[in-house]
Amino acid sequence: MTRVSVIGCGNMGGAFLKGLARDGSYHLTAIDLDPEALAAIEEHASETTDDVAAARDADVVVLAVKPDIAEAVLEGLDLTAHQTLVTLAAGVSRGFVAARTDASVVRIMPNLAAETGNMAAAATAEGLTDEVRGILDALGEFVEIDEGLMDVSTALNGSGPAFGFYLIDAMKRAGVEGGLDPDQAETLAAQTFKGAAETVLRDERSVDELIDAVCSPNGTTIEGMEVLWDSDADEAVIDAVAAAERRSGEIAEAFENE
Ligand SMILES: NC(=O)c1ccc[n+]([C@@H]2O[C@H](COP(=O)([O-])OP(=O)(O)OC[C@H]3O[C@@H](n4cnc5c(N)ncnc54)[C@H](OP(=O)(O)O)[C@@H]3O)[C@@H](O)[C@H]2O)c1
Repeated sequence: MTRVSVIGCGNMGGAFLKGLARDGSYHLTAIDLDPEALAAIEEHASETTDDVAAARDADVVVLAVKPDIAEAVLEGLDLTAHQTLVTLAAGVSRGFVAARTDASVVRIMPNLAAETGNMAAAATAEGLTDEVRGILDALGEFVEIDEGLMDVSTALNGSGPAFGFYLIDAMKRAGVEGGLDPDQAETLAAQTFKGAAETVLRDERSVDELIDAVCSPNGTTIEGMEVLWDSDADEAVIDAVAAAERRSGEIAEAFENE
């Protein structure tokens, strides 16, 4: 059984632990200084502790603290070359982390859907082991990228859930305006996005072909699609991702490689 220690059990570390607990094939150690964070995750971990030294027993250590304290946590860790350190910290380069540990380091950009096994993640090819691939597979879908693309990944799949929530909410509001109860409208909107996403992931056809398949001539969908095609909706989404990417780059400047 692979032993995984997660340091920092807040939003992201907690989602990682919950997702891996669902998988059931990992020994999970939750490490956090905050007793409330540990209490919140207790039922999903094999053990909880406030002692970062517990990470020495892990095969894989996940660093899930805020970027500005990553350096201080790394100073207190004493990992060996046999261990793998997975860093999730946005903007903190792989080199910055690797210079502060003997473990082999892989940098990933995950998202909170790890909790339900629906995470979209990007991982640096450098440092990516089969053990870590197994963890990422257990939590959802992942792609291997050059580290130079981490800022756009941070925007697309790290921040992306918020953009998805926004779009789902717009669909929900349309349903409510049409007379649906808010809970019903939310279920229909969210499940529709989920189904559409699943289709894009599993179907061989392109997005344009999939749209065509829903649009029958003179039907309802084409009427709605004409409105979207005539609008700047796609540009607004592209601008949102670009703004988040730009901000990721600014934050990353503080953690340049040594
Ligand atoms: N949230 C996301 O959607 C998301 C997505 C992609 C990547 N990330 C990355 O994931 C990392 C964590 O983000 P988050 O949103 O999960 O932050 P968070 O909710 O603040 O969680 C961080 C946790 O680490 C704890 N902590 C602080 N110092 C510690 C120490 N020395 N040793 C052990 N634990 C310590 C914090 O406790 P206190 O609250 O007491 O400080 C907190 O429980 C960040 O680097 C972020 O860039 C997050």
